[in-house]
Amino acid sequence: MSASTIVAPVANPPAAPGKIFADRIGRIEVSATMAVTAEAAKLRAQGVKLVDFGAGEPHFATPRHIKDAAIAAIEGNFSRYTVVSGIPEVRKAIVDRHAADFGSDYAVEEAVFTTGGKLALFNAIQVLVDHGDEVILPVPYWVSFKDIIQYAGGKVVYLQTDEAENFRITAEAIEKAITPKTRVIILNSPSNPAGSVVSPDDLERIVKLAHERKIFLLLDECYVYLQYKGAPISGGSFLEAKEHVIVLGSLSKTYAMTGWRAGFALGPKPVIAAMSKLQSQSTSSTASLVQKASIAALTGSQECVCDMRADYLKLRDRILDRLSEIPGITCTVPEGAFYVYPNVSAYLGKTGIANTTQLAAKLLHEAHVVSVPGEAFGTHAHIRLSYAVSHDDVEEGARRMKDFFTRLS
Ligand SMILES: Cc1ncc(COP(=O)(O)O)c(C=O)c1O
Repeated sequence: MSASTIVAPVANPPAAPGKIFADRIGRIEVSATMAVTAEAAKLRAQGVKLVDFGAGEPHFATPRHIKDAAIAAIEGNFSRYTVVSGIPEVRKAIVDRHAADFGSDYAVEEAVFTTGGKLALFNAIQVLVDHGDEVILPVPYWVSFKDIIQYAGGKVVYLQTDEAENFRITAEAIEKAITPKTRVIILNSPSNPAGSVVSPDDLERIVKLAHERKIFLLLDECYVYLQYKGAPISGGSFLEAKEHVIVLGSLSKTYAMTGWRAGFALGPKPVIAAMSKLQSQSTSSTASLVQKASIAALTGSQECVCDMRADYLKLRDRILDRLSEIPGITCTVPEGAFYVYPNVSAYLGKTGIANTTQLAAKLLHEAHVVSVPGEAFGTHAHIRLSYAVSHDDVEEGARRMKDFFTRLS
């Protein structure tokens, strides 16, 4: 090679004065639920006995047969790197479970196993959304959707829903929000934070609409097994629209496995391949033993899922009952997931409480009840309470809230 063909290294452009970090990290915020968890942890460390309605995670232990599969994987030295998208057995378990429950027909190559459902979402958005692309997001939304879209450089198009209609999204509203720049529509049903469930008819219309307009529909179905009204359906079962549908799933809530970090995506082969490529340059595969535990979860008896769902339903009814006893608070009836989203606007503006962030802080410090302010989910009149706690905690937390709000009024 002659000296003249040597390519000089390209110098990085000079950083803006005072700038330390890349722009993209400035476009996101620390997850609000994690901020609440950190504040609560501080009080707990001081010995304060909290009732924690903050964390969105099951209070149940991971079922025995799932733990046993992980122990067997450790004892059997199943401890090496695996193929990035997950061993074929775990991907087969995912597609078989989905086919049995929802009538979908995904191939193993149309599935990727990820480190939690959140990474499935993150990777999907990173491979689909470019700077300036629009992503339609129904409000109220799970906190991470907004930040993950913004991290990718996308523009969030917020779609308001109606509290009187249980915050339910409709095909009509989505159609009106579509522009030539729409790249992705996000749907989360049952939803976090309001537990709303899109009607079967609207889901079908939304899937078809996305397919006709060549827009990707990202369906976050991480609460699909926690639906209390009607049989759950998956957007992945509309076979004719598969080319534009990406199902995001998680074992976290279904099998009480939040800390294991087990999630997945099902979708068109090119999208799944691109997500796997991205994963190959970040986390690589999910932990090998988690893959074995997940096979046990997905292929074993689903009775544990039914039992947990039955208890969540009782907890939901209990917390709704107790909230109805607090004057001024109203609450929609969630049809899925394990959150209630009470409207607390009657208490804002009083005693100097300007918004739900201040209200949640006061509730934490004065009543020792952990909640998440509605501002984190895009609304200004609500707090989110997770009822994935013991029945005793629901009673105690409700008692403390009643005292707290009575003192405020
Ligand atoms: C709507 C929604 N999607 C995805 C996730 C991610 O779950 P995980 O990463 O634990 O699978 C959560 C967790 O709270 C959620 O509420």
